[in-house]
Amino acid sequence: MLFTPGKISSLLLHNRLVRSATAERLAHDDGAPKPKLKELYRTLTEGDVGLIITGHAYIAPRGKCHPEMTGIHSDDLIPSLRKLTEAVHELEGRVAVQINHGGGNCSPETVPSPLAPSEQGAPIFKQQAQEMTEDEIEEIIDAYAQAARRGKEAAFDAVQIHGAHGYLISQFLSPLSNHRKDRWGGNLENRSRFLKHVCQAVRREVGKDFPLLIKFGIADGQDEGLSKEDGAAVLSHFQEWGLDGVEISVGFGGRRLKSIHKGVTKEEEEAYLLPLVKKARENTDLPIIAVGGYRSRKIMEQVLVGGWADFISMSRPLIREPHLPKRMKAGEQEKSNCISANHCWPEEDGKGIACKCPPLSETD
Ligand SMILES: Cc1cc2nc3c(=O)[nH]c(=O)nc-3n(C[C@H](O)[C@H](O)[C@H](O)COP(=O)(O)O)c2cc1C
Repeated sequence: MLFTPGKISSLLLHNRLVRSATAERLAHDDGAPKPKLKELYRTLTEGDVGLIITGHAYIAPRGKCHPEMTGIHSDDLIPSLRKLTEAVHELEGRVAVQINHGGGNCSPETVPSPLAPSEQGAPIFKQQAQEMTEDEIEEIIDAYAQAARRGKEAAFDAVQIHGAHGYLISQFLSPLSNHRKDRWGGNLENRSRFLKHVCQAVRREVGKDFPLLIKFGIADGQDEGLSKEDGAAVLSHFQEWGLDGVEISVGFGGRRLKSIHKGVTKEEEEAYLLPLVKKARENTDLPIIAVGGYRSRKIMEQVLVGGWADFISMSRPLIREPHLPKRMKAGEQEKSNCISANHCWPEEDGKGIACKCPPLSETD
């Protein structure tokens, strides 16, 4: 099944393998991508990835999560973003842009005084965050919509809203970070209002036929956090809010759940978020993308054939081996050589993500 076509609304993908959003850290200070990012997308397309999802791009200057993050907060960036889509389309590939606001989870280097649903500091955030006013909430909702419009104008094939990993959308959903007493906080309906308004505003801006995805943190890994039952209840509204597909991940990670597991080397360690994917499948008919530790073709096929997910996405394996899908399709490789050691982040600014694990000859 892995190499059969699949559809997400009007978006036809030639196989079921997705590159999960991966912050490449290959942008200038103003958010414009460096030429190396275009080369990376070209390599992934040549490697036969069905859909590339870009690393998260910030929708507003106060939502910039870390240095070297790609920006989508200004119309001035559209021409440079279009160069990325052209590079992929020349090779008949498909690329979606992931849009994000870091909220309280922005690095002090990029946002010294961040905004969040409620005033809060450590241990939830790295630094003290200020509570957003009602006007600031409305402005940020519009910033998501404008970012999505820029994505469409830059010829991305889809937009993915980042609704996971403890960033702003997770912060509104989670009782760990949302202590508001107004219509944006309190019960689940109020805590999910921000996400609902973001989805609806984005949909209005991009029109009814443009493919719109979300990466959704369906549960936090902490006792007082978002439960998977509450996450699933939110997810059951996605179709009515205008979304076309959902990638399942976690919100605030914690002891019980993590978005990135270290040391996935055995089959039984793969597909570590599958229980959450199954929960999602019970609550939506939308196409589902499963992520988290997919390494061998056998496990990927099982998840697709089982009907739990429609697509499989990978991050770290495609940093190490961007041509993995092509090699799997040709029968040259059944399993990724990624050992999930988490040595993918740049060692210094300007270098971008790269696999720093020993080369194959030393691991074999
Ligand atoms: C270097 C790096 C950067 C990442 N950046 C993002 C990101 O920008 N947006 C996002 O949703 N997830 C991001 N992730 C998480 C991955 O998309 C994925 O959910 C996670 O790594 C699990 O998949 P894997 O086991 O295939 O690596 C990142 C992961 C890594 C390793």
